[in-house]
Amino acid sequence: MSSVNILSVGDRAWAAVTKTSAFVFGVEAAGEDTRVVQWYWGPRLPEAALAEVVGQVPRRTGSGFHDPRDVDELLPVEGGRRWGVPSLQAAYAGGVRSVELSFVEAVLSDTEIELVLRDPLGLRVGVHVKVVSEVVERWVSVANEGPHAVRLGRLDSGSWAIPEQAGYRYTGVAGAWAQETQLHRAELAVGETTFTSRTGTTSHRANPWIMIDAGDATEERGEVWTVALAWSGSWRLTAQRRPEGDVAVTAGFGHDGPSWPLDPGETLVTPSALGLYSDGGFGAASRAWHDYARHHVLPTPFEERPVLYNSWEATWFDVNEEGQIDLARRAAELGVELFVVDDGWFGSRTDDRRGLGDWWPNPDRFPQGLSKLFDTVRELGMRAGLWVEPEMVNPDSDLYREHPDWVLHYPGRRRDTLRNQLVLNYGRADVREWAIGWLSGLVSDYGLDYFKWDMNRSFTQAGWAEAGERADLLWIEHTRGVYAVMDTLRERHPRLRIESCSGGGGRIDFGILRRTDEVWTSDNTDARDRQAIQDGYSYLYPASAMSAWVTDSPNPHTRREVPLAYRFHVAMAGALGVGGDLTRWSPAELEQARELIAAYKAVRPAIQHGRQHRLAGTPGVTASAVQYVHEDTVVVLAYNPFALSKHPPRRVRLAGLDPEAVYEDAAGERRHGQTLMSHGLALPTWSTEGSDYRSEMVVLRRLGI
Ligand code: DGJ
Repeated sequence: MSSVNILSVGDRAWAAVTKTSAFVFGVEAAGEDTRVVQWYWGPRLPEAALAEVVGQVPRRTGSGFHDPRDVDELLPVEGGRRWGVPSLQAAYAGGVRSVELSFVEAVLSDTEIELVLRDPLGLRVGVHVKVVSEVVERWVSVANEGPHAVRLGRLDSGSWAIPEQAGYRYTGVAGAWAQETQLHRAELAVGETTFTSRTGTTSHRANPWIMIDAGDATEERGEVWTVALAWSGSWRLTAQRRPEGDVAVTAGFGHDGPSWPLDPGETLVTPSALGLYSDGGFGAASRAWHDYARHHVLPTPFEERPVLYNSWEATWFDVNEEGQIDLARRAAELGVELFVVDDGWFGSRTDDRRGLGDWWPNPDRFPQGLSKLFDTVRELGMRAGLWVEPEMVNPDSDLYREHPDWVLHYPGRRRDTLRNQLVLNYGRADVREWAIGWLSGLVSDYGLDYFKWDMNRSFTQAGWAEAGERADLLWIEHTRGVYAVMDTLRERHPRLRIESCSGGGGRIDFGILRRTDEVWTSDNTDARDRQAIQDGYSYLYPASAMSAWVTDSPNPHTRREVPLAYRFHVAMAGALGVGGDLTRWSPAELEQARELIAAYKAVRPAIQHGRQHRLAGTPGVTASAVQYVHEDTVVVLAYNPFALSKHPPRRVRLAGLDPEAVYEDAAGERRHGQTLMSHGLALPTWSTEGSDYRSEMVVLRRLGI
């Protein structure tokens, strides 16, 4: 395919084309009322046919009064004859609210276009469309070129019309702490379905993406349209299904309530909304998202993620030099490659009531600083990692006593704590400089390879006292500030890797993944619960970034007892880690752990970088299996949480193999790819004989011809 992805297909009409899809849009002027509309989004059309869809939106009636067309607009505004969900709302001087845009010009390059629109009251609006492999990225810039301040009540990254079809079903993930990314799939209701976060983070409650199909897509077949937002602060995504039948999805940063001031001369640029069309079912859609993450988002996509050990569930806050060194020795013996010290190593932080903000080693717990511990870690052949929570402060800390003005607050309002902590305002340059200073110092002083960057509370009283009327910008500037600090750290310390954690999986999105290598998927480390969480995660995000630990049984959160092999096989579906109290594991368990870690390392490239197929079952609920294919290696992880109560199929049909090629299993048995895909692979784990919680990893190698 040529590298030109934005084609001109008519008078003020363009197509953004990927290898498999096309998105056709352009300017439709109805008198003074310019609309930038979407004419087509679906399978790629022959180049000669792209012009055929331009202008082809049949009206239901002759009257605009009965047939509002804003559902097709790339940026429906609040203004003029529009009554749908606005992507842009502005209040001008004197309380004027109607945005009225005219087309000025198109600024076009091979992969990107900006459609420039102007409102005579002073706004210059840029609607941007860019092709990045299979994804259409869209964002908006708004500049105030007028003499008066303007307030933007909403500035989404864009709206996407979903083509007319027999039905509309959505798939998305929603959840809560310890229950992140639970899959939801249901008919899209007539009206407006909104997923949102008001927490200041991506949140546990929902993740900023939606997939829409006609109700007939399966894992392997069918058309699926996805819209996702690359942003790690509060956000809102609304799918509107009009009673007339049309469906559109608008997504952007911020939630209901806050509004952004735009002074004369200022510009506000949104994060990107990402659109992807796939005709290979949910599985192909997910694999296309994983490819996008690998090739265009993650900073170190093709590095193998090390097997890590994290001490949190072993020690909780009871951290000290001797205990950590003991755990490090035990972890190294298992084959662990990265040792991460979690919360409790600094300041007066012996519980969650004090010390956050005082980022120096606790002198009672680490009398020699962290050098002895991390020198030992390195002598043991492991890399060194440290937990930090740079956006937070306990009121009982030296930092807060010195800088009470650094936290989010409004003058004269309460400062509500959550987990006894307040949020530092990363919109402030002095806070960012402070953070870069001590974080960078820790990396240099201890030769750190890894930060687990945690963020444990939602915003409340999210004021920015000195900003006055501009305080709402905090919702944007905090997130940008966090991005800036992470980016600076990575620039200064190219070897540094970062894990995004937010009370578990509260900050997982394509914005944070641009500057982090892994995400902590959930605080819930119960293997069975985790299966559902990991399944929902896999709809958009790749296994390489999914940090997953094996912890103790009974699980400290659920008290559920699950065998070690099952716990490992669940955690092996991502970036494997160990987080149990190794001082309590028996010699037999330690030996089994050593073997399983070695087995994981042998196939790690396939799991972390392979094409992932969700083969069968409802993970954690019924017998299920997930498969990865990478070069000549095929890995199947199969699970059966029940002994006799359910009757799983006797075989699992594999996917994504070369039908002509021959694959060999560990016992030397050979079968063609077509046989494995059509007839399937018998899984002992899926037999009805045996105990609860059986699991296995099957590895097949494609033989050379
Ligand atoms: C929440 C994280 O998700 C946990 O893994 C752990 O790091 C704790 N915070 C520490 O306070």
